Amino acid sequence: MATLADPTPDFATLPDMAADVFTAPLAKPAHVGADWLEPAQTAYTSEDDAVWNDLFARQMEILPGRACSAFLAGLEKLDLGRGGVPEFGVLSEELGALTGWSVVPVPMLIPDHVFFWHLANRRFPAGNFIRTRETFDYIEEPDVFHDVFGHVPMLTDPTYADYMQEYGRAGWKAMRYNRLKALGALYWYTVEFGLIEEAEGVHAYGAGILSGPAEARFAVEAQSPNRIMLNVDRVMRTDYVISDLQPTYFVIESFADLYRQTVERDFDRLYRSLPAGFTYANSAVIDVDNVLHRGTQEYHLRGGRGSGAVPV
Ligand SMILES: [Fe+2]
Repeated sequence: MATLADPTPDFATLPDMAADVFTAPLAKPAHVGADWLEPAQTAYTSEDDAVWNDLFARQMEILPGRACSAFLAGLEKLDLGRGGVPEFGVLSEELGALTGWSVVPVPMLIPDHVFFWHLANRRFPAGNFIRTRETFDYIEEPDVFHDVFGHVPMLTDPTYADYMQEYGRAGWKAMRYNRLKALGALYWYTVEFGLIEEAEGVHAYGAGILSGPAEARFAVEAQSPNRIMLNVDRVMRTDYVISDLQPTYFVIESFADLYRQTVERDFDRLYRSLPAGFTYANSAVIDVDNVLHRGTQEYHLRGGRGSGAVPV
């Protein structure tokens, strides 16, 4: 069987974790196996479906002109607005025909090494549950709306789909070097909060932006945040905010550019040169940056989400 020490595990089966590799400890529910997959997707109630429909309608008011063209095309190709929480089986068939990806249900956040293993096999683990009306605007754990609406449309783009698979493979390498935090920052600033330059301007492709009500406007239009061209060495040294809007967004030229900057480079050398912690604050602009917009940081200077500051 492949192990973590093996530089090129084949990922057909879940590779063994070396005892000295640290990943966040998560208590596995008794009903799931080592792959953390739910035996079946939840049977959603009509209220669950209504929550999905309302979230979908709200995002569709906000996203045209702010979401990137690949995301909007993916929403259409997968017909995610057909009504109610999508069935993962149907979705996987349609997505599989386009890029070979599938969507699989998981109960909650899953351990890093299992998440990476699923990505390496072109399986996207999606939260099984959906938020309630009480947590309509903001949830701490990703639910099925964040995971399916936010992430899955992008998996219809062939280059992005390849990037996500390679990210999963890269995860195992990062664990070998104990640099998961650095690789996590790359995920954060691309997959969750990434922006892309398009002919009509900068648009969003990150799921954290696309699945929430406030961040699309803030990320694309507001004066507060920095918008800086993606530089992988710099991003992997940069801290990030988990529970508020981002002080800085990183922008790619294209998905081919993202692929080139990440998959087509030697991460072994990069990991050997990276410090264990972050070097740059999340609002910093440094001398190597190619800055598209230098933010005022007014929103965060006024105290951010907790203070009721307006995201301008
Ligand atoms: Fe996410």
